[in-house]
Amino acid sequence: MIRLPDDAPFTAEQRAWLEDFLTKTLAGVAIPSKPSGPAVPVTVLWGSQTGNAEGLAKKLLKRLKKGNFEPKVEDLSTYDRSTLPAEKNVLIITSTYGDGEPPDNAADFYQWLLSSEAPALEGVGFSVLALGDSSYPDFCKCGIDIDLRLADLGATRLVDRIDCDVDFDTEFKQWSEALVDLLAPETMVVPGQDEALDQSEEGYSKKRPFPSAILQNFNLNQGGAKETHHIAFSLEGSGLSYEVGDALGLVPENDPAVVDEILSNLGFNTDTDVPLPNGKEASLREALLKYYDIGTLNKSIIQKWQPRSGSPYLRSLVEADDKKAYEDFCWGRDLIDLVVDHPADFSDGEDFVGILKKLQPRLYSIASSPNAHPGEVHLCVGIVRYESHGRKRGGICTTFLADRAKGATPGVFVHSNKAFRLPTDIETPVIMCGPGTGIAPFRAFLEERKLQGAKGGNWLFFGNPHQTSDFLYQDELEAYVKDGTLDRLDLAWSRDQKEKVYVQNLMEQQGEELWKWLQKGAAFYVCGDASRMAKDVDQALHAVVAQHGGMSDEQAAEFVNQLKKDKRYQRDVY
Ligand SMILES: Cc1cc2nc3c(=O)[nH]c(=O)nc-3n(C[C@H](O)[C@H](O)[C@H](O)COP(=O)(O)OP(=O)(O)OC[C@H]3O[C@@H](n4cnc5c(N)ncnc54)[C@H](O)[C@@H]3O)c2cc1C
Ligand SMILES: Cc1cc2nc3c(=O)[nH]c(=O)nc-3n(C[C@H](O)[C@H](O)[C@H](O)COP(=O)(O)O)c2cc1C
Repeated sequence: MIRLPDDAPFTAEQRAWLEDFLTKTLAGVAIPSKPSGPAVPVTVLWGSQTGNAEGLAKKLLKRLKKGNFEPKVEDLSTYDRSTLPAEKNVLIITSTYGDGEPPDNAADFYQWLLSSEAPALEGVGFSVLALGDSSYPDFCKCGIDIDLRLADLGATRLVDRIDCDVDFDTEFKQWSEALVDLLAPETMVVPGQDEALDQSEEGYSKKRPFPSAILQNFNLNQGGAKETHHIAFSLEGSGLSYEVGDALGLVPENDPAVVDEILSNLGFNTDTDVPLPNGKEASLREALLKYYDIGTLNKSIIQKWQPRSGSPYLRSLVEADDKKAYEDFCWGRDLIDLVVDHPADFSDGEDFVGILKKLQPRLYSIASSPNAHPGEVHLCVGIVRYESHGRKRGGICTTFLADRAKGATPGVFVHSNKAFRLPTDIETPVIMCGPGTGIAPFRAFLEERKLQGAKGGNWLFFGNPHQTSDFLYQDELEAYVKDGTLDRLDLAWSRDQKEKVYVQNLMEQQGEELWKWLQKGAAFYVCGDASRMAKDVDQALHAVVAQHGGMSDEQAAEFVNQLKKDKRYQRDVY
């Protein structure tokens, strides 16, 4: 507590106020500039698949706690929605997943809100921050739908919704400060307070990735068409820590051969410096190698490209504004196809990079337990290679890791995923379903469960096309069966026989046993392909519950929903 000198010329009341003011100011606490009224109630709700929206909701809570608010934060899956009509101020932060779908923890709330069951919401103030990625056709759809529906139901929009692209920090600040200004304008922002709020972001992070040495990098497949790399990175000296279930963010570099082909096809002097997304400058070549996205196409870049290009094809595509036509054109094409097949006019390098998006880091589910591999983090990466429109192509990050990362120290950061965690009680049985690279977090889970001496039982469903070439981590998994860490290992080799067999088929075959495990309180985890596998596994889970639990489809859906709410059904799908 700051004390003023005894002879300072203040009354006792003035002295007490000033001492309190100075103490709080130096501690970085918000000061109400005048005696504040009753605290403003605010409920922050989040819908999040990989932790971004959840992180922002918690950041907002911290911010509100510094002002004249009575805030609480809730996961949309556990929020008691019967209280919604009585809320004064509801702030919703949600991402969009799959093809314009809500994240898992928001699915139930979303369905209910958009249904005829949703109540009138007059008297409720709300605002929505929608997270998304503008390269998806249904940009921020979940947030948009929730925002429109709340207004439809009679709630009052406090601050306009903001649709955030992959970099959302600026928009988050803008949105949250607008709300604070509106709801409790007397909360004075003390200089430096924002920095105090951001202190948790010190050290290596997404904004400041750690240059990590690659310790191991090899193909786990034994021949065959697939290429899946096990890659170990060093975290030595980074101060970074992670938990099993987290993901690693990785900053890739573009393929120099593609960059050079782009440069040689541009009709202006390419030997110049250009601005970078981080505000600095670099040569155009360096900028295209490390800072700008020169990969797959989407509607947004075509719309920017078309007016500069004389291409009649692009003109008709943009004029038709048809989602399917855009998707068909973009599939299997990259920036190089626009440069070569639909040349456009740019005055210089700055003009050219002005229409490109920042090269984004990629996320990978961590495949190691930090307790089994201190100072290291392991990934299991499926290398993306394909041929389309007469050209051999590859995923930016995966070909960087497979072909161009020798001797490199790629930037990495830990992306916490609290929505994908082992049960805290080691007696709880665990069922894991992770075909293909979906095995990654389960390798970490098994390492951790073994170290924990978890007695609850571990069951893994794994699958891939062929047993001989695609049995990832075969030695480790078989050793876990031998030493009893794995109680059950069910393997689906989809192309080793005439009939295709997938993990979801094995789940249904083993339905009776699966139901017994669920009855014993097992937690069910899924990781891997979101577009088909995760949906099929979800259907299989519903079918098993209905058949072996003797339930109707509606009751089975209710049971599975309850599993989600109890954090006993968690997914890390992409
Ligand atoms: C939370 C999370 C966890 C993840 N964990 C893992 C993991 O553990 N292991 C893993 O391997 N990946 C994982 N991923 C996926 C990973 O982040 C990358 O998306 C993936 O590695 C591809 O990145 P890339 O840069 O190589 O490909 P990009 O350059 O991003 O290109 C991918 C794009 O190429 C196009 N494409 C791909 N194949 C074809 C084809 N045959 N024909 C036409 N077009 C095609 C598609 O448009 C596709 O979207 C995860 C993703 C998330 C969000
Ligand atoms: C598999 C996958 C599907 C996605 N689908 C969409 C989409 O349809 N529309 C969109 O705007 N964003 C989409 N996104 C982007 C996410 O909404 C965005 O990354 C967001 O920041 C994630 O926030 P979260 O971690 O809180 O879930 C998708 C991301 C992934 C990995």
